[in-house]
Amino acid sequence: MCGIVGYVGRKQAAGILIEGLKRLEYRGYDSAGIAVLEGGELRIVKCPGRISRLAERVAAESVGEHAVVGIAHTRWATHGAPTGANAHPHADCTGRIAIVHNGIVENYAALKQLLVEKGHSFRSETDSEVLAHLISEFYNNDGCETIERAVQMALREVTGTYGLAVLCADEPDKLVAARKGSPLIIGVGADEYIVASDASAIVEHTVNVVYLNDNEMAVLDGQGLRTLTIDNVPVSKQVQQIEWSLEQIALGGHQHFMLKEIAEQPEAIRTCISGRLLARENRIQLGGIEQLSRELVKTKRVILTGCGTAWHAGLIGEFLFEDLARIPTEVEYASEFRYRNPIIEDGTVVIAISQSGETADTLAALQEAKRRGALALGVVNVVGSTIARETDAGVYLHVGPEIGVASTKAFTAQVVVLALMSLYLGRRRFMSEAQLRRYLEALEAIPGQMKEVLGYSEAIQQTVARYVDCENWLFLGRGYNYPVALEGALKLKEISYIHAEGLPAAEMKHGPIALIQEGMPVVFVAPRCGTYEKILGNIEEVRARGGHVIAVATEGDEQIARCAEHVFYVPDCPVPLQPLLTVLPLQLLAYHAAVARGCNVDKPRNLAKSVTVE
Ligand code: G6P
Repeated sequence: MCGIVGYVGRKQAAGILIEGLKRLEYRGYDSAGIAVLEGGELRIVKCPGRISRLAERVAAESVGEHAVVGIAHTRWATHGAPTGANAHPHADCTGRIAIVHNGIVENYAALKQLLVEKGHSFRSETDSEVLAHLISEFYNNDGCETIERAVQMALREVTGTYGLAVLCADEPDKLVAARKGSPLIIGVGADEYIVASDASAIVEHTVNVVYLNDNEMAVLDGQGLRTLTIDNVPVSKQVQQIEWSLEQIALGGHQHFMLKEIAEQPEAIRTCISGRLLARENRIQLGGIEQLSRELVKTKRVILTGCGTAWHAGLIGEFLFEDLARIPTEVEYASEFRYRNPIIEDGTVVIAISQSGETADTLAALQEAKRRGALALGVVNVVGSTIARETDAGVYLHVGPEIGVASTKAFTAQVVVLALMSLYLGRRRFMSEAQLRRYLEALEAIPGQMKEVLGYSEAIQQTVARYVDCENWLFLGRGYNYPVALEGALKLKEISYIHAEGLPAAEMKHGPIALIQEGMPVVFVAPRCGTYEKILGNIEEVRARGGHVIAVATEGDEQIARCAEHVFYVPDCPVPLQPLLTVLPLQLLAYHAAVARGCNVDKPRNLAKSVTVE
């Protein structure tokens, strides 16, 4: 995700800022930039690509040799491709105010229009740039006396989230920072302050920090540090100590990126639905496909395509589109689709699902579909990636970089986006207001429910420890939870090298039941749903043959506890959203199995994060 660093002190700011950006590199980014105050002027350098490239440009242009105040940013694109123009910092029209921003300005389109009408001209496609112009409008035209006042006034107009740092050439030696929903920490050194979105950019300077809470801001200048609310009420803050090492901080205290990304899911899903799920208006807004909404409502057939985990998300998408939007839907392995002779008729929409947006097979399938006249959409995480660029429109996941090779948060976000798309079309086709409201309320509750399930990690670890030497596992589920069973098996295979198979539960009796013998672990994904009773029958069949039954079930289900040896509970939610919760214990199960077997969790053997070859 994006990273912020800011500096006010006596040392050369540019060097400290670049070092800080390098500390944030592990988070993943696609462009970076820096702004310093020098000789009463703002100097900004920004470019796509690596921090080393930015550092070269800063050195070549002799930027910041005498500057002692500055802000810097690593960007993970959300609105607009990763270009120099879209990179932060963003300046206002006068070139005297610069900002760096993490988060999303949900009402940026309306604010931008207003600012354009007032004569502001925009240079980027980002939502963040509106903040620079809005602050400038209050500072230069609405008579705010200080830059912090202008920041307060501007933030009152903003719907969304922010970690924000602001410089103003008219008030040199001052840095203003503000936070809502996106972390911001202030390192307190001797005669210096370092603002950062992540402690890893601070620890090499100081362990003394002040944490800003939501709706708080800080003004840092020669007189020290002042903290106040964005409504201008002073707040006193305690200086606290960071206790982690640098490496721990990069991983946010987690042992592996996979575990970090599993744990990030509640927040990632919150970001993914933010600005899209408008519960108060009982409406879904999907900016990326809005311009095609009329055409999409008339869709006659959807083909979902992807590879690996993305294909599993597609399988759930098939249920979602058919159930919630009543559109006939198929799922295709991208690698197979591209070599078939697929029939694409009028009204066929092909949706490519990909975390990286670079998977060669998915890209080729997309190109084949387009060649045959399909309308092509993307459900992609990496903004500006090849698949995102080649689709006619799409919906980004917005979950930040996924570093662990085994996909986790991208999977749940893919399911969320497919659910949003199905509901968006469903409502326009036949779904009642009341039905939609029920789903939107349930979707909004998912991040909180995810948090609850992730809290059972230790219990899952203990259960896994008992079976970690078993070399063959089965994962079974039905309906929406059959793709979850496939995903659970894939996760286990990928990172622990245990052989696992996922199946629709009723298929077991048509062959795989022959595998079941004394001591074999069999995982049933069995929350309450239409086929629940049938699954109980399958559980008995496994027990009768000496298999160990591990079940994922709905909270409060005592019946299943009587026949399964171990039960991992998930909170109740509407059946179409169950995969978002039932997959979590399976991600944790695979993770703990891999750790127990001493495997390289984040970089499993033979696998690559992004497979750009056929
Ligand atoms: C590779 C990865 C999988 C991933 C698949 C699709 O095989 O190891 O984890 O699911 O590619 O990747 P994509 O970036 O297109 O989602």
